[in-house]
Order: sequence, then C-alpha cells, then structure tokens
Amino acid sequence: MLRLLQREMKWVSFYQQHSRFSSTTSSTGSRLEGKIALITGGARGIGKATAQEFVKQGAHVLIADINDKNGPNVASDLGPKAQFIKCDVSIEAQVAEAVDAVIERHGKLDIMYNNAGIIGPYYPPSITDLDLDEFEQVMRVNVRGTVAGVKHAARVMKPVGSGSILCTASICGILGGLGPHPYSISKFAIPGLVKSLASELCKYGIRINCISPSTVATPMVIENFKLIYPNATSEEIKKIIGGLEEFKGTQCEEIDIAKAALYLASDDAKYVTGHNLAVDGGLTCIKSLTLPPRDHFM
Ligand SMILES: NC(=O)c1ccc[n+]([C@@H]2O[C@H](COP(=O)([O-])OP(=O)(O)OC[C@H]3O[C@@H](n4cnc5c(N)ncnc54)[C@H](O)[C@@H]3O)[C@@H](O)[C@H]2O)c1
Repeated sequence: MLRLLQREMKWVSFYQQHSRFSSTTSSTGSRLEGKIALITGGARGIGKATAQEFVKQGAHVLIADINDKNGPNVASDLGPKAQFIKCDVSIEAQVAEAVDAVIERHGKLDIMYNNAGIIGPYYPPSITDLDLDEFEQVMRVNVRGTVAGVKHAARVMKPVGSGSILCTASICGILGGLGPHPYSISKFAIPGLVKSLASELCKYGIRINCISPSTVATPMVIENFKLIYPNATSEEIKKIIGGLEEFKGTQCEEIDIAKAALYLASDDAKYVTGHNLAVDGGLTCIKSLTLPPRDHFM
C-alpha cells in the first residue's frame, strides 16, 4: 500500500514538473504571473477592466488604443506593470507595431486580447437606408482590426508554440435584432473567424476564443443611449440598461467580462479553443412563447 502511494506521488511530481498543461496558479495565487498581455481598446470600458484584472493577477499589460488621452492615464494608474501604445486597429501596420513593441520590451507575447470595437451609426434602422461607407468603417475596426490582431499575435506565438488569443464578440452576434445591422453583422463574424483560425492555430499550441458580453453600461453604450435619450443623465441611462437584462437581481458589469477573459487567457482553459463564451445571464438561450390560454378553444 505504501509502495503504491509512493509510486503515485512520484507520478504526480513528474507530471507537475513536465506537463506543459500544469496549473498556472503560482505560489502567490496569481493566475497570470509572468504572462505578457496585449489588450486593444484598453483605454476604457471592458478593455480597461480587463487590463486591471490581468495586472492584479500578475501579468504585464500593454494597452493599445486609439484614445491617447485616457490610455496613458489608465496605464500609469496600473503602475509599472502596464504601458500604453497608441494604435488604430484598423491600420495593420499599427497593430504589427504594437505586437513588435511587446516583443521588444518583454521578449514574448502570451495573451492577445482583440477587444477594440465601435458600434457605428445607430440609425437608420433599415437596411434600405444603410450607408455602405459607414458599414465599412464598422467592419474595418471590428472585423479587420480583429483579424489583424490575430495575424500578428500568431506571427510571434507560432515559433514559440503557445499562446492564448481572445476576441470580443457580442450577444448582437448571436441573435438578430439586438443592435444596429452593421454592428450585428460585424459581431456575427467574430465567432466565425475564431472557429476558422482555431482549426489552424491548434496545431501550434495557440488557443483562440471569444467572449460575447451582454449589455454593459460602458462609455460606448452610455454614449449611444444618449442619442436615444438626449435629456437623460448617465445615471438614468445606467438604470435603463440595468433594467434591460437583469439576471437574478444582478447586471452584467465590466468585471464579469474581465473574469471571463481571465479564465480563457489562463491555462485553466488549457483545453478550450474555438469557443464563444456568452456572458449574458442566459439572454441568448431564453425565448418565452406566449401561448393562448387553455380555455381559448373551449
Ligand atoms: N458594452 C457592451 O454592452 C458590449 C456588449 C457586447 C460587446 N461589446 C464589445 O466590447 C468591446 C469593448 O467595448 P466597450 O463597451 O468597452 O466600449 P468602449 O467604447 O467603452 O471601449 C472601447 C475602446 O476601444 C477603443 N477603440 C475604438 N476604436 C478603436 C480603434 N480603431 N483602434 C484602437 N482602439 C479603438 C476606444 O478608444 C475605447 O477605448 C467592443 O468590441 C464592443 O463591441 C460591448
């Protein structure tokens, strides 16, 4: 019995030493200790919350954003483990430059989070009035920007044989009718590109997944609701948003998406790739049918 136990202990120790899939939880309890992450759209909203969570969990984070007013402040508030680089994700050369800056500073890129996105025009609501130039701009940021991020992350991850790539999709890319057409179409593309690219990248030890958040009262959403309710205060708009998709008395917040990103980025999700993780309190799986009452046909 003792010999059996000793043999088991030996295997556990061998596994811990040699498995590339061993748990990332370090002795400090930080799930991203020593990891290097690049987050696009990290100057505010979901990206900012994720940058904060990743740094809290031990990662070094480079925030790449077009917003060079907020971005540097967010990075300096996070301390020496965060830096800012100005980057427009719709311009491939700037994405490549951001990735190269990470390699130059840290010698590797473990996590790439393609999160930057725009809603685009909320109106007109009908396809018949759609301005295709405006449509193209949404696709350039949300889809082309994401593809560029994956392309350049994969460029530096492939030779190493590991990495975790994340993208932000949306509930608007799971169900129709939840957002303006250009935005919805762009977000439907994200789980598609994730699946297509996962089929190639899995051969190189690179995982790629996306997150589909429900409505979060980020600056982007508040600004858009202000177009619909120009006289409402931000607090009033937050209340409207909160009431939209309440799940057991709670609302979807930036931190919920940051925690989902933390899971997918970490080796806790070592066997998860090509996945679309909806963080939506069940919104996209609930559709109640209103049936006529039983006595209707009596
Ligand atoms: N807030 C929500 O309810 C919600 C729901 C589902 C999906 N999303 C998605 O989450 C992501 C983040 O959105 P958010 O709500 O935090 O919005 P946000 O506007 O608050 O933050 C988005 C960030 O992306 C940056 N950005 C925009 N265009 C860029 C570009 N071309 N290059 C680099 N950076 C750029 C902005 O400057 C900003 O800092 C987006 O992809 C969005 O579509 C948001």
